[in-house]
Amino acid sequence: MASVSRMTRFAVIAASVAVVAAACGGSKSDDKKDASGGSGGALTGRGPITLATGKDTSGNLQNLVNTWNQQHPKEQARIIELPEDADAQRQQMVQNAQTKSNAYSVLNLDVVNTAEFAANRWIAQLPKDQFDLSKFLPAAVKTGEYRNNLYAAPWKTDSGLLYYRKDQLDKAGIKEPPKTWAEMQQDCSKIKGFNCYAGQFEKYEGLTVNFSEAVNSAGGQVVDDSGKPNVNTPQAKQGLDFLVNGFKSGMIPKEAISFKEEESRRAFEKGNLLFYRQWPYAYALSNKKGDSKVVDKFAVAPLPGLNGPGAPTLGGHNLAISQFAPNKATALDFIKYLTSEQTERANLIASSEAPTLASLYDDPELQKKFPYLPTLKASLLNAKPRPQVVRYNDVTTAIEEAAYSALTGKSTTDQALADLQNKLGQLITP
Ligand code: GLC
Repeated sequence: MASVSRMTRFAVIAASVAVVAAACGGSKSDDKKDASGGSGGALTGRGPITLATGKDTSGNLQNLVNTWNQQHPKEQARIIELPEDADAQRQQMVQNAQTKSNAYSVLNLDVVNTAEFAANRWIAQLPKDQFDLSKFLPAAVKTGEYRNNLYAAPWKTDSGLLYYRKDQLDKAGIKEPPKTWAEMQQDCSKIKGFNCYAGQFEKYEGLTVNFSEAVNSAGGQVVDDSGKPNVNTPQAKQGLDFLVNGFKSGMIPKEAISFKEEESRRAFEKGNLLFYRQWPYAYALSNKKGDSKVVDKFAVAPLPGLNGPGAPTLGGHNLAISQFAPNKATALDFIKYLTSEQTERANLIASSEAPTLASLYDDPELQKKFPYLPTLKASLLNAKPRPQVVRYNDVTTAIEEAAYSALTGKSTTDQALADLQNKLGQLITP
């Protein structure tokens, strides 16, 4: 949210000091907010609904909605498309909730926003017993829970993967994708005429993801197991330095500082990038004949790390019901439809977006069509969540500012991490 002024951000962070819940738990302030407890009323009412969602990069969402609409002529769903950028999506959803608008019925909510929306009672509690949660990937289920209650049904999960030019590695006689950053750099030095590596480094949620992956992949943790911020460590420094030095040395091209997901995908599809970090959704798109110059030329692997395989960040989106929407019974059925095996399977086939139902990853037919499914499953099982805190927006803003200032040379890695440790210490209390 680059548009928010520094002063405002400072005020937000300062105001939030007292009201932060640590990962998994809840603070006293949460209890107050959640005092009226319960589901916030029965999920009743039938009729037309809307689905508020970030820009549909898959191109398949309308098909899924059309199928529902054909079967439910009196309970039609309409897509309201929000921006592509994760921060802008949250901002519009927050505005909708703060004005108690009934415009959005179902929210396609980023996993990092569940705690905030649940604690503020902007979304309705979902009936856990009406979802067979044992069939979903446990880590994905957790992202939809707040204080052990379900507020968002797991729909699409996400994990960072290394996309690489298999054709070029083959040509250079390199048999395996790199497992470490050093190996990746070696591979790049052997293959001339390409940019080496990219990710998402614009100042937005994607930067928090890339920063966390770098820290975790160097053996660090942004927040440790007891819930304490932990970025003033040699491991965090090695992680951030991988990116900072990458920009300095040209391993990462300069323009990547303004990459979000789609800019980085387009750069890879232009054909002169050897490696980049991306979510699964790009797999199908980059293999689509048309503008992509890398059709059938790339593969995916686990992210590399400092001393061995890296640790990806867990992403994804879950489906929640706005507290202010009419027709909640329809909204609930619509969520059940979207998270059903049939719909998740159809969506995987059409879009390569990562499903939340575990069985789809082991389905031989799907594995044949998507040879990367076992890699994706392994990455997901290894993926690290971002802090599940009510004031996540303040936490991520602090991370984005620190990482961006180091990547752009405005502060040293040491200074950026010391400042970040300080800010996170104010925001996160275990
Ligand atoms: C993807 C992830 C989401 C993450 C976002 C960052 O959409 O699913 O969790 O926050 O990227 O850009």
